[in-house]
Amino acid sequence: MAGTDNGTTGADGTTGAGGQGATGATGATGNGQDRPIVIVGASLGGAKAAEALREAGYRGGIVLIGEEHERPYERPPLSKGYLQDKTPREKIHVHPPQWYGQNDVTLRLGTAVVSIDPAGHTVTLADDGRVAYDKLLLTTGSVPRRLPVPGADQEGVLSLRRVEDSDRIKAALRPGARIAVIGAGWIGLEVAAAAREAGAEVTVLEALELPLLRVLGREVAQVFADLHRDHGVDLRFGVQVTELVGDGGTVTGVKLGDGTTVAADAVVVGIGISPAVGLAEAAGLEVDNGIKTDRHLRTSDPDVYAAGDVANAYHPLFGKHIRVEHWANALNQPQTAARAMLGQPDAVYDRIPYFFTDAEWTPRHPNEPVASRDKLSMEYLGYVEPEGYDRVVFRGDVKANEFIAFWLKDGRVLAGMNMNIWDVTDPIRAMAGPEVKWPDGSRDGPVDRRVAAGTLMEVLTLWESRMQALGAGSRPSAVRTRRRRRPLRCSNTPSRRQRAK
Ligand SMILES: Cc1cc2nc3c(=O)[nH]c(=O)nc-3n(C[C@H](O)[C@H](O)[C@H](O)COP(=O)(O)OP(=O)(O)OC[C@H]3O[C@@H](n4cnc5c(N)ncnc54)[C@H](O)[C@@H]3O)c2cc1C
Ligand SMILES: NC(=O)c1ccc[n+]([C@@H]2O[C@H](COP(=O)([O-])OP(=O)(O)OC[C@H]3O[C@@H](n4cnc5c(N)ncnc54)[C@H](O)[C@@H]3O)[C@@H](O)[C@H]2O)c1
Repeated sequence: MAGTDNGTTGADGTTGAGGQGATGATGATGNGQDRPIVIVGASLGGAKAAEALREAGYRGGIVLIGEEHERPYERPPLSKGYLQDKTPREKIHVHPPQWYGQNDVTLRLGTAVVSIDPAGHTVTLADDGRVAYDKLLLTTGSVPRRLPVPGADQEGVLSLRRVEDSDRIKAALRPGARIAVIGAGWIGLEVAAAAREAGAEVTVLEALELPLLRVLGREVAQVFADLHRDHGVDLRFGVQVTELVGDGGTVTGVKLGDGTTVAADAVVVGIGISPAVGLAEAAGLEVDNGIKTDRHLRTSDPDVYAAGDVANAYHPLFGKHIRVEHWANALNQPQTAARAMLGQPDAVYDRIPYFFTDAEWTPRHPNEPVASRDKLSMEYLGYVEPEGYDRVVFRGDVKANEFIAFWLKDGRVLAGMNMNIWDVTDPIRAMAGPEVKWPDGSRDGPVDRRVAAGTLMEVLTLWESRMQALGAGSRPSAVRTRRRRRPLRCSNTPSRRQRAK
């Protein structure tokens, strides 16, 4: 059962075009079944699920099917290092090419799944081939929303999801080019920062009053607005885009509701995504803002699971379904889904959501070191619904862009965000969320949580004392190290491993 990188070799129950229809798998099995586990969606979530199955000791067939031609890769660099030509293409992939063969994972790229037959336990491919499954995992992710205005399909109107999209935007980011960005969300702001670094003139057009308003709320959104304005981005809020005007099929500007037009050589649209639920919906699975799953990431069909951007999963700590559109969720949920598919009853997904963003601007004076005002390196832990908090507490130095923000409701910490301060995610995680979890495994109620509303030092001291109670050296204390060496001023960019929260 050899893995393949070119999408041509079928195995483990796959049949090519004109094949014999639904067939059982031929490969070795580890679970008493002769059909493989099939994963639809060969990106971060799908590749991590295959890895987790092998790590859990599963020896049966794994078929990983993806419609993209690139082997599974991570998307965060597409709006950061890769877009800025700092991260080479070979660094964006989840696994090296040989990993799939070495782990007996059959990788079928350039292959779209067009339907699922839950009763027959098969998926049908675009070429009419069918693949039988024992268990099915859907990691189909999401697709960018299209701008519903005239002219949105012209040359020069770009969106960003895939590596080839990033290539196209990269080509447009030339010194002096006029770039209009529609949407001041994550894509809009990260592209704006990259475009400024490339020497382009950037106008960001956002429908709401501030960037990232629904995620961060007014107080912290204002920090992001100030930072991007300081670095030369023309941010315009409360605008209505009515048309993309053009010349001979190529975009030349963005027409707004007030009748003005913003001239543009290229327009980048980043107005959010929709979860890719088409397959699930057609198969009769329960869908509501994503594919609904239980705490084990199992959908309404007991043999079908979902993870990553597409999953609206029941979160036992929050007591409700939540869908998270971030990297760490696509990294970690597949481990739970894999264990659940293997019948492990304790496989429950209860991680607190985590995400990050990065941007760095060249100092205006060439001999100056990069100051925190020229960096935006942040991590966020927690979960806050839009307007679901009653106050934000800042600790640190907001003006210097080195701070931690806590979102609170009724004296409880819902989320925390560290900006240009590193190695504090453990204590923030302990504070954020419905239950305080300490390193010794104990759990506290709201009394300790109120400490988080006190001072940053109190939070860190409390955390440290809990760590010390565990015994020196029992677990490295990032907080202790950082506080001893560079109190509150550590701004090293964390490694991806550190970020695997
Ligand atoms: C440019 C960019 C930058 C980002 N930066 C960050 C960041 O800094 N921090 C952060 O936390 N998050 C970031 N994210 C979000 C993060 O990348 C996503 O949450 C993550 O990619 C979700 O992974 P996934 O595997 O669930 O889905 P996806 O990455 O969307 O992958 C789904 C895959 O399934 C395939 N597929 C879909 N339907 C089918 C089908 N029917 N048949 C076959 N294949 C199918 C798709 O082609 C795709 O390859 C970023 C996203 C983008 C686009
Ligand atoms: N650092 C990160 O975590 C990161 C980075 C890049 C992308 N992503 C993910 O990629 C996906 C796409 O990102 P995104 O930035 O497109 O979505 P987003 O949801 O983050 O932001 C979309 C923005 O567009 C605005 N908007 C919507 N319709 C508009 C319109 N017609 N005109 C003007 N503004 C409009 C919204 O108000 C919002 O501010 C998301 O899932 C996001 O989480 C995450």
